[in-house]
Amino acid sequence: MSPYAMTRTLPEDATGAALRADVLHGLTGSPKTLPPKWFYDAHGSDLFDEITTLPEYYPTRAEREILVARATEIAAATGARTLVELGSGSSDKTRHLLDAFPELTTYIPVDVSESALRGAAKLLLAEHPALDIHALVADFTRALVLPTTPGPRLVAFLGGTIGNLLPEERAEFLTSVRGLLSPGDFFLLGTDLVKDEATLVAAYDDRAGVTAAFNKNVLTVVNRELDADFDLGAFDHVAVWDPEREWIEMRLRSTVAQTVKVPALDLAVNFAAGETLRTEVSAKFRREGVQAELAAAGLELVRWWPDSEGRFTLSLSSVPAA
Ligand code: SAH
Ligand code: TRP
Repeated sequence: MSPYAMTRTLPEDATGAALRADVLHGLTGSPKTLPPKWFYDAHGSDLFDEITTLPEYYPTRAEREILVARATEIAAATGARTLVELGSGSSDKTRHLLDAFPELTTYIPVDVSESALRGAAKLLLAEHPALDIHALVADFTRALVLPTTPGPRLVAFLGGTIGNLLPEERAEFLTSVRGLLSPGDFFLLGTDLVKDEATLVAAYDDRAGVTAAFNKNVLTVVNRELDADFDLGAFDHVAVWDPEREWIEMRLRSTVAQTVKVPALDLAVNFAAGETLRTEVSAKFRREGVQAELAAAGLELVRWWPDSEGRFTLSLSSVPAA
C-alpha cells in the first residue's frame, strides 16, 4: 500500500490570521456573524458526522441513495480518471463513486479540516490500495492550485455545502470551479431542495441536540484560539426558515445581556438579552436556480438526478465546447 500525499496550502498561521480577521469583522458588524468554516475543528468534524446519522437530517441519506443509484452512470458519462472533491470531510459517501469508476487513478480530497482528511485517506487507502490519494488542506473559497493528474477531471461538491455560501460567494465559487475545468471535465454538485418548513427546520434543530452542540462548537473554537470567554450555557441554538431567501439560518441567541471578552483581539462584545449571532445559512434550491447559477459561471447543466422523494438532487454539468 502506498502512503497518501498531503499538501497544506494554508500556511500554518493562515488559519490563525484568518480566524482573527473573521471574528473581528463578524463580532463588530451588525447583525453579528461568525463564518461557518470555523465549525470544523476535529470535534466539529466529529459532531457533523454525528449529524449525518440523525433521523431528522435527511440530506445525507438522500444524497447517498442518489450516489448508489447513479454512480455507474456518472462514471460512464464522465470517464473521469481524477476525482477532486471539495469539502470532502469523512469522504464517506464518496466510496460509492470510487467503487464505480473503473478508470479512476487519482482522488484529491480538499478540506480545511486536516483531521477529517487524515481519517478519510487512511480508510480509503485500505479499501483502494492502488488509488493515488493526494489530500489538500485548503480553503475552497480561495484560488485552488491542484496537482497535475490524469484527465478527464471530475470535481465533486457534495453534501449541499454550496448552500452554506452566500449568493455572491456562490457566484465567485462557481466561477473558480469553472476555472479548474477544461473541456471534457465535469462538475458534480449536491444541492438540497426547497421543501416544507417543518422538515427543513427539524433537520437543523434535532431533538437530540447534536446540531445545537455543533453550532455552539464555533464558540468553543473562538474561546480556545482567541482566549475568548463565551459562556456556551448563555446562548441558545436557533434555526429559522427564511421563505424569501429560501435558506435556513442558524443563529446563537444570547439568553441574557452579557459582555464577551476576546483578549487576542483586544475586544469586548456586548450582547443584549435575546440578541442573535448568525453562524450559518443553508440555502435550498430549485432546478431553475441551480441551472441559472451554473450557466452564469460558464457551466452547462447536463443531468439532474433527484432522490426518490424529491428532497435532494445531484446535478452534473460540463464545460460547453468552445
Ligand atoms: N462532503 C461531506 C462533508 C460536508 S460538511 C458530506 O457530504 O457529508 C462540509 C465540509 O466542508 C466539512 O468537512 C468542512 O470542513 C469543509 N469546509 C467548510 N468550509 C470549507 C472551506 N472554506 N474550504 C474547505 N473546506 C471547507
Ligand atoms: N452542509 C451542511 C448543511 O447545510 C452543514 C450543516 C448541517 C450545518 N447542519 C448544520 C451547519 C448545522 C451549521 C449548523 O446541511
